[in-house]
Amino acid sequence: MRLAGKVAVITGAASGFGEGIASRFRQEGAKVVIADLTEGSGQEVADKLGGIFVRTDVSVSQEMKNLVETTLREYGSIDIFINNAGFTSRNSPMLEVDEATFDRIYAVNVKSIFLSAQHVLPEFRKKGRGVILNIASTGGVRPRPGLVWYNSSKGAVISMTRSMAIELAPENIRVCAINPVAGKTGMIHLFMGEESEEKYDLFRSSIPMGRLSTPRDIANAALFLCSDEAEFLTGVCLEVDGGRCL
Ligand SMILES: NC(=O)c1ccc[n+]([C@@H]2O[C@H](COP(=O)([O-])OP(=O)(O)OC[C@H]3O[C@@H](n4cnc5c(N)ncnc54)[C@H](O)[C@@H]3O)[C@@H](O)[C@H]2O)c1
Repeated sequence: MRLAGKVAVITGAASGFGEGIASRFRQEGAKVVIADLTEGSGQEVADKLGGIFVRTDVSVSQEMKNLVETTLREYGSIDIFINNAGFTSRNSPMLEVDEATFDRIYAVNVKSIFLSAQHVLPEFRKKGRGVILNIASTGGVRPRPGLVWYNSSKGAVISMTRSMAIELAPENIRVCAINPVAGKTGMIHLFMGEESEEKYDLFRSSIPMGRLSTPRDIANAALFLCSDEAEFLTGVCLEVDGGRCL
């Protein structure tokens, strides 16, 4: 049990990578908090895994505060906070994305990390340790066309991860990121513009190992980075991408 006794909060865990991470973390003995906008599937995942669901919009400070307070009330502690919830425009030329969509991309993908830091760091400082894991994207390192604002938001996530890591290292608080390559989750149709076999072939052909990522791939990397096996790793932004960024 690589996470025995740990409490992990995972945002966007009602589906996709977040659900995969929550499931893997439960198998390794963690208590998990499923935080998501979507109530039905969020509660279902929590019930299935044996965790708690807290309905949260990660772009709203009061809701992130409530998430941290509810976790502390229910489980008494937080060891791991995973910023996984994400939002994107549909793949389209950059000038076709309106201002409200741009603002939403940055609120959900970037501001949420600022908010999570505000609310979880006091707890980590009290404990003298903690791990923040941000789910960025290969798009922040090696963009594909049609996702300019999303890709740039993930570039900001990578930069925030490294900047937070250097400032928090002396306090034994680690901050890492994962950069997943495309995976067949709730967001894939938006990344592709329209979902089709040709698009899947195109994506697969750009990944040297010849397949998309899976929630299990992302969860295994998250498990390592959040476990004590990685206690000397911080600021690491790990591509889980079958060689896409090489
Ligand atoms: N699937 C991919 O190809 C891919 C590739 C690289 C990175 N990512 C990133 O992985 C993360 C997880 O996405 P996924 O692919 O599993 O998609 P997904 O749609 O299956 O899961 C995203 C979850 O985030 C939730 N969410 C959205 N906005 C929210 C908000 N404001 N507050 C709380 N929850 C919110 C959704 O309800 C959903 O459950 C995202 O950050 C995404 O950008 C995905």
